[in-house]
Amino acid sequence: GAPVTINIAGVEAGQMVTTAWRGKPVWVVNRTEEMLASLSGDEKRLRDPESAQPQQPDYATNQHRSIKPEYLVMLGVCTHLGCSPKFHPESPAPTIDANWPGGFFCPCHGSKFDLAGRVFQGVPAPLNMVVPPHRYDTETEVVVG
Ligand code: FES
Repeated sequence: GAPVTINIAGVEAGQMVTTAWRGKPVWVVNRTEEMLASLSGDEKRLRDPESAQPQQPDYATNQHRSIKPEYLVMLGVCTHLGCSPKFHPESPAPTIDANWPGGFFCPCHGSKFDLAGRVFQGVPAPLNMVVPPHRYDTETEVVVG
């Protein structure tokens, strides 16, 4: 499929927007300082904290899994059976699990991810969510694909 350009100038701090690329949802989240801080918890609770799994761009292997720390660009697809997880920016997310720092929750079978799409232990999803190949053409334009 053709690359898609996303203008992120209007994405406010703490907000997520959805676009589509190759028939899949692409999310951009403008993460606040607090949201980024939630990524620094105990890494033992994560299955693949450093995104060592294959087929992820190099720029998705840091803690925040992004080129610019605040902007997460990710496919909105659960790595279990492909449902679309829900955005839970609150930290913690007590309506689901008081011990979970918030992030993305898949309602289909209960997989939990942090605000970088890193999968937690003990859930059906086997892998971190996918960061698609992308680049910044300007300060405010992300090209996915
Ligand atoms: Fe997400 Fe099964 S599809 S947990």
